[in-house]
Amino acid sequence: MNITQPKLTSAIVLLVALFSIVACQQKTVTPAGTIDSRVDSLMQLMTLEEKLGQLNLPSAGAFTTGAVESSDIAKKIAEGKVGGLFNIKTVANIREMQKIAVEKSRLKIPLLFGMDVIHGYESVFPIPLGLSCSWDMKLIERSARIAATEASADGINWTFSPMVDISRDPRWGRISEGSGEDPYLGSQIAQAMVRGYQGNDLTANNTIMSCVKHYALYGASEAGRDYNTVDMSKHRMYNEYLPPYKAAVDAGVGSIMASFNEVDGIPATANKWLLTDVLRKEWGFTGFVVSDYTGISEMINHGYGDLQYVSAASLDAGLDMDMVSEGLLTTLSKSIQEGKLFEKQVDDACRRILRAKFLLGLFDDPYKYCNENRAKAEVFNAANRAEARSTATQSFVLLKNEGNVLPIKKSGTIALVGPLADAKENMTGTWSVAARFSESISVLEGLQKAVGTKAKIVYAKGSNLDEDEVLETNATMFGKTLHRDKRTAAELRDEAVRIARNADVIVAAVGEAAEMSGEASSRTTIEIPETQKELIKALMKTGKPVVLVLFTGRPLVLKWEEENVPAILNVWFGGSEAGDAIADVLFGDVNPSGKLTTTFPQHVGQVPIYYAHKNTGRPLTGKWFSKFQSNYLDVSNEPVYPFGFGLSYTTFSYGEISLSKTTMTANDSIQVSVEVTNTGSREGAEVVQLYIRDLVGSVTRPVKELRGFQKVMLKAGEKQAITFTLTKDELSFYNSELKWVTEPGKFHVFIGTNSRDVKQGEFELK
Ligand code: BGC
Repeated sequence: MNITQPKLTSAIVLLVALFSIVACQQKTVTPAGTIDSRVDSLMQLMTLEEKLGQLNLPSAGAFTTGAVESSDIAKKIAEGKVGGLFNIKTVANIREMQKIAVEKSRLKIPLLFGMDVIHGYESVFPIPLGLSCSWDMKLIERSARIAATEASADGINWTFSPMVDISRDPRWGRISEGSGEDPYLGSQIAQAMVRGYQGNDLTANNTIMSCVKHYALYGASEAGRDYNTVDMSKHRMYNEYLPPYKAAVDAGVGSIMASFNEVDGIPATANKWLLTDVLRKEWGFTGFVVSDYTGISEMINHGYGDLQYVSAASLDAGLDMDMVSEGLLTTLSKSIQEGKLFEKQVDDACRRILRAKFLLGLFDDPYKYCNENRAKAEVFNAANRAEARSTATQSFVLLKNEGNVLPIKKSGTIALVGPLADAKENMTGTWSVAARFSESISVLEGLQKAVGTKAKIVYAKGSNLDEDEVLETNATMFGKTLHRDKRTAAELRDEAVRIARNADVIVAAVGEAAEMSGEASSRTTIEIPETQKELIKALMKTGKPVVLVLFTGRPLVLKWEEENVPAILNVWFGGSEAGDAIADVLFGDVNPSGKLTTTFPQHVGQVPIYYAHKNTGRPLTGKWFSKFQSNYLDVSNEPVYPFGFGLSYTTFSYGEISLSKTTMTANDSIQVSVEVTNTGSREGAEVVQLYIRDLVGSVTRPVKELRGFQKVMLKAGEKQAITFTLTKDELSFYNSELKWVTEPGKFHVFIGTNSRDVKQGEFELK
């Protein structure tokens, strides 16, 4: 036995190797068998250098068409030093690169082609923070499905999305890229996005691999400054920040991106606890981990070691692929020679990347995403744009509508003013790298199309984005110019007031430019820029009704606006079709139903402010201000708009909560119901929200936690009983030993239209 067994094994290895060599002489390496055995056979043929090549993910950079073949990247691909590329667009360019990989490199291993397809491809959907305000998982999944269809038709097979970082800090620009402050909602959105991108079959040519990011805790960067340090308790991580990443893993996400920040003093990129203990051992993740852009070499600046050390530390921690640093490619053989790493560790990483390529079916057809006819038919087509338009209407949040100023009529004269009114390039918002800016629909165009000859639209810019020209330049990068007007602020304002005086209603498209949020776009002042506020004040003085169409990528401080302006429609950045979608809602063809997924503070000094806070030992129970209670001298603890808030053109009333019983056991469930009535005069959708409070815990529990929601459409006058089922899953949490536990005791349950305005019930878990 002992003698024959190794012989048999070597015979099999020899056969597999022979088979693979034969396969190699064909177009690509296509050994038969299960994915794992195919990966193993291929790896038998690989040199250490070729394995390291698979771990390397350079940016395709700015080569121009025609120069592809002679670029430095092309040379590296031919040498087997590249596992994938990103930042490359169009079937022609991608095919050219893939051809080099599968025809010129020794082992003909196809490349992954990644891109930040974050909220749509060319048909751009609302920025993720906006999309989350739809609270509609099917809609969100469909937006990712369409993004995947378009991207895959254009050659892409891997997207760096979804971004699921919980954030409670509106100063942080990247809050725009996530789903807000809540881990329960964030987890459901993470799963919907992964399902949308990956579908049921990754080998199909219209699905792409998803990469959940940024693992982990990136949304808690200190002071809201991008790339900054993060430090938090494990208890908070497990209960509040890690759930969405885990949810994506549970949904089968193929890859995960390590974050720039450190976690517990060790950069996430080289954090073994995070990348191996939690991700692989605890959660059972089997895909591959990629660093963020230069995430490996940046550890030199973190003060974690030189390039050789940080590269070895990353691999040892469980990282598989190196975005841009080339630390793994250039230093790991030395570390292996010096006995600092085992080659087996490189094998493991390489195996995971090859596995992903097999899962995508790239070995069977490396050009499966390269079909110009598909690109022509499926990218930015009428159906996708229509879907982007209706999705955008679902992301808008009506913050105020005093005296039912909205919807406005398609008649008379409408004055449209503001720096964002005629701003095509800004409609798609941050991270819309594939967008066709010149074809986006501006508010001006959207309103004009909607009214046709029925009403007159008069337009004036009214103000620049900001008086500070440098800030405006920095806030309108990547071709998102606002075409700065050289006139003075007073001249611009006067012109706007002149046209507004003769109008029936004023629509002011104001707020942030697209690149005022997103990566490296943190702000310390989170208000509408002063010059725009001056414009709004001047418009208000005309005595005409003013509607703010508010563009933003983050929660803003809108205290003055809430107190003074009659109507505010928050439209985030709605995507390529935003202008049409805004018209749909302003004129009432669509009734708004979005609800905030982040708290809007009344002062930046309240940050971090979020609904699921702890009670403290001295909660403010009575009136503000109270000495020796947890509050501020200068502003109350209240936000301007709480989590879950959003109005409609109709109104809803909530009955009292009824419970199917008042005690339950952990093996049991309890039904919580409420009757919701549309008390207005038109049909509308309402997001009914359920929160719990665990009154006593072995670790203290938040004052409210979202544990259910249902979006229902009700006709005018219609009533509906809405029922939620609570099981132990909704009542459990991670205790101080990070164990998932269900603790008996009393719970409050709340149902309402937002996290503040709720009805309350109570039950006991025995
Ligand atoms: C961002 C990532 C992005 C990557 C690739 C980085 O700067 O943090 O979110 O996926 O670039 O473009």
